[in-house]
Amino acid sequence: MEVVICKDAAQVGAVAAAKVAQVARRVGPSVVLGVATGSSPLALYSELAALVAAGSIDLSHASAFALDEYVGLPQGHPESYAEVIRRTVTEPLGLDPSRVHVPDGFADDLALAAEQYEAAIAAAGGVDVQILGIGANGHIGFNEPTSSLSSRTRIKILTPRTRADNARFFDSPEQVPIHCLTQGLGTILDAREVVLVANGQSKADAVRAAVEGPLTAMVPASVLQLHRFATVVVDEAAAAGLTTGDFHAFIRDNKPEWQRY
Ligand code: F6R
Repeated sequence: MEVVICKDAAQVGAVAAAKVAQVARRVGPSVVLGVATGSSPLALYSELAALVAAGSIDLSHASAFALDEYVGLPQGHPESYAEVIRRTVTEPLGLDPSRVHVPDGFADDLALAAEQYEAAIAAAGGVDVQILGIGANGHIGFNEPTSSLSSRTRIKILTPRTRADNARFFDSPEQVPIHCLTQGLGTILDAREVVLVANGQSKADAVRAAVEGPLTAMVPASVLQLHRFATVVVDEAAAAGLTTGDFHAFIRDNKPEWQRY
């Protein structure tokens, strides 16, 4: 796992976008992106949009797969992840909407929708680079503590903590749905590279547990310790709990040129 500690959230966005852009250039215009919602990746998406606008990366034939979707919101609800992804990813990056996929939280048969989502990812050839945020309780996607480390896309129930954290996007906490469809931890591990971004002191415990703690279903993000190509990009506040911070800074300062991005 590579851990990059940045001075602030803006630098987190720039460094993480550079990593995603490196994959996009290597794979080419048909790159398959895995995308997260929430506040953490917004700076990353803005930086990627700037790279597209500058002609520095070509996403003209790119596909994207979102991690998750609420169940129970009316179709077209501004906080449904289908809408959030359209506003924050599809439009700014100029992606073809027909190649952007979000789990169908509006389906009558949610279990079938979950299976079909897995099949669609496989049909696209798998995710080249998965962008992740992390919940204060260590979740990735909506894989809450005690999620199976080999889980696939399925229906889950959100914890009270996650519903409280996400209440800021809704008029009242009760409006945050209880159920969701989310890619599983096994699905996320199948991505060829993963880039996790986190900012702020509220994420410090989760980042420490994910990076330095034991591999445990109680901290779903700790499953990334099993991934061969996981990059964790955090600001100083989110890195504050790491006991290995100095080592990561030393690695950054001594990286060979060919490993830089
Ligand atoms: C959303 C998702 C979640 C968020 C996490 C952090 O698609 O996958 O795991 O990344 O809840 O959310 P923010 O970034 O809003 O703190």
